[in-house]
Amino acid sequence: MAKTSKTQELTEVSEAQIAVHWKEEDYYQPSEKFKAQANMRDTRILEKFGLDRFPDCFKEYADMLTWFEPYHTVLDTSDAPFWKWFVGGKINASYNCVDRHLEKYGNKAAFIFVPEPEAEPDVTLKYRELYERVNEVAALLRGVGLKAGDRVTFHMPMVPELPITMLACARLGVIHSQVFGGFSGQACGSRIQDSGSRVLITMDGYWRNGTLVDHKANADIAVRTAKDLGQDVDKVLVWQRYPGKYSAKTPMVPGRDFFVNDLLKDYKGQKLEPVALPSEGPLFLMYSSGTTGKPKGAQHSIAGYLAYVTGTSRWILDIHPEDTYWCMADIGWITGHSYIVYGPLANAATSVLYEGVPTFPDAGRPWRIAERLGVNIFHTAPTAIRMLRKLGPQEPRKYKYHFKSMTTVGEPIEPEAWRWYYDEVGKKEAVITDTWWLTETGGFLGTTVPAIHAMKPGSCGPGAPGIHPVIYDETGAELAKGSGKAGNICIRNPWPGLMQTLWGDRDRYVKTYFGKYNKNPRSKDWRDWPFMCGDGAVQAGDGYYRILGRIDDVINVAGHRLGTKEIESACLTVPEVAEAAVVPVQDELKGRVPEVYIAIKPGVQPSQAIIDRVIKANEEVIGKIARPKHVYIVPDMPKTRSGKIMRRVLAAISNRRDVGDVTTLANPDVVEQIRTLVQGKEAITTQGEVPEDIAKFGEVE
Ligand code: WTA
Repeated sequence: MAKTSKTQELTEVSEAQIAVHWKEEDYYQPSEKFKAQANMRDTRILEKFGLDRFPDCFKEYADMLTWFEPYHTVLDTSDAPFWKWFVGGKINASYNCVDRHLEKYGNKAAFIFVPEPEAEPDVTLKYRELYERVNEVAALLRGVGLKAGDRVTFHMPMVPELPITMLACARLGVIHSQVFGGFSGQACGSRIQDSGSRVLITMDGYWRNGTLVDHKANADIAVRTAKDLGQDVDKVLVWQRYPGKYSAKTPMVPGRDFFVNDLLKDYKGQKLEPVALPSEGPLFLMYSSGTTGKPKGAQHSIAGYLAYVTGTSRWILDIHPEDTYWCMADIGWITGHSYIVYGPLANAATSVLYEGVPTFPDAGRPWRIAERLGVNIFHTAPTAIRMLRKLGPQEPRKYKYHFKSMTTVGEPIEPEAWRWYYDEVGKKEAVITDTWWLTETGGFLGTTVPAIHAMKPGSCGPGAPGIHPVIYDETGAELAKGSGKAGNICIRNPWPGLMQTLWGDRDRYVKTYFGKYNKNPRSKDWRDWPFMCGDGAVQAGDGYYRILGRIDDVINVAGHRLGTKEIESACLTVPEVAEAAVVPVQDELKGRVPEVYIAIKPGVQPSQAIIDRVIKANEEVIGKIARPKHVYIVPDMPKTRSGKIMRRVLAAISNRRDVGDVTTLANPDVVEQIRTLVQGKEAITTQGEVPEDIAKFGEVE
């Protein structure tokens, strides 16, 4: 049978060698109008940032910043692979994002905050006002005893107080760690513990999908969780969504909880000189999911990070001070840190901050905002594009906005969604940059330079200036461009935006990102330390990369990384659950969603109540984004003879794929039972190429 022989063929070759065929897409060219105004028009830019010019090429980004003291060394590799950039320099990120613009742009909007309720007016924050508010909050933070090097956890929604508080920390050298507002109190608590924060900054409530959410309740859970893990929180500082009014039902805890607006009265009008900090001081932590259940805190530097996001905001996003830029990401993720706050502000942009859901109250909302505010640069994720397309394919036509450039980030975008974005949202006028990168990398890795390179739907493009990707197979051999083979995409060289380390875990940093392809752990030569991104990729003959998705046990749900181990641990908090396995399932809107298989303890009757408890556990331990699409109670997990759960078999069943050869399992019969449970009696098998992340799912154990 043809099908069987194909399966055998697939299992014989290494997974990284699976040929990846897809139709080559046509190129789209940037318009002459766009090219004429672009910040970066030098067609030789990739050569100027060639490996032969490394690392000095990155001085150009450093020159975009204002330094208190110049650096003496561009790149110090003596503690490889813990790279130090622009060593010897003294700098302050808050100064670079705010103070230095006052003279020229003091009266220009830094942020325009758009509340979710459409009747509530926008709040414009000019650079001068931003300066005043950042200074007052910095004075307050110093007043509560915080100093350079201390960590502070935020659990804030999308409101201006979030960037204000970030910049106040940056002014002092206090390391901020913002936890995505949609994460649960427990998830926040474990991040508080890991970072060793004694102060939590939050907000009483915020609008989401038409509801004023009681967010303060999460702070109480977070503090309790952190305490159980051994970390005391002394103070919870609570911003009020409506100043002077408490929007939550949860009581304030005397002596621990304070309203920021009350405390601020003592700091009115105070100014605080930005602290001159060493280049390689940490600016912030951003937690992300990985292979183990413990989230990892990517530690980003002040100078290297800021230089990288400033340069890429200028050249790739093409931000000019005259532009009105809107990135719909949440500041709680790396995209928001790099490309709502630090990058755009360092370029004196006017940046739109939207509180709520893009489709609230209808799918015309983003286009109304764009028209009203004159947004001309737009930045979002494939999930939002798919959703807006599904709910209102012709909505953009009703509004008279004009974008010159647009970005997509966070997940692979299918060419069909790309073309809708181009034709309808961009009205065939706007260029698109498909920017591929990670929390750990600070800024873009793969992207076109929009005035120079043609666009190709579904491919991010070549490496960004100064980023030199390489695709290795499992043995470390390079896959040539145009080979049609997928492998592990790595970056050959360090760059200033790369994180410095994982907070408190140097070994995990080395092992996770360099362990597989470094051959000499003692080497001080950066050439020996390719950075492994954790994505599968193919490179076409034209040099463009197509990203195929995560190859570790990470599920990318609507552009948000969730670790399978985190989800499984959440399931195991339900007492009836004996074993849990989670797999990614293809989803029309969100790209991937988690699906959960559980085996229950002997003597327990399967019931809907158990399924409901598993769903609730995920929402409580992680957050609503981790809600499984389905929870299946199975008689037993498919296992190898050594007892390892074969998640790959479950992923095949969930995705209606051929399960392949299961005869080597300890319990092969259970596979057919599970398949019938999920798919019904009739086998449903989807044909076509298996997406790389699903094909390889469960390999890393
Ligand atoms: C995926 C988000 C395809 C990828 C900035 C990566 C993408 C993970 C793209 C990082 C893109 C991000 N095309 N896939 N343009 N951008 N990804 O850490 O799998 O939240 O490894 O950073 O998102 O997600 P993270």
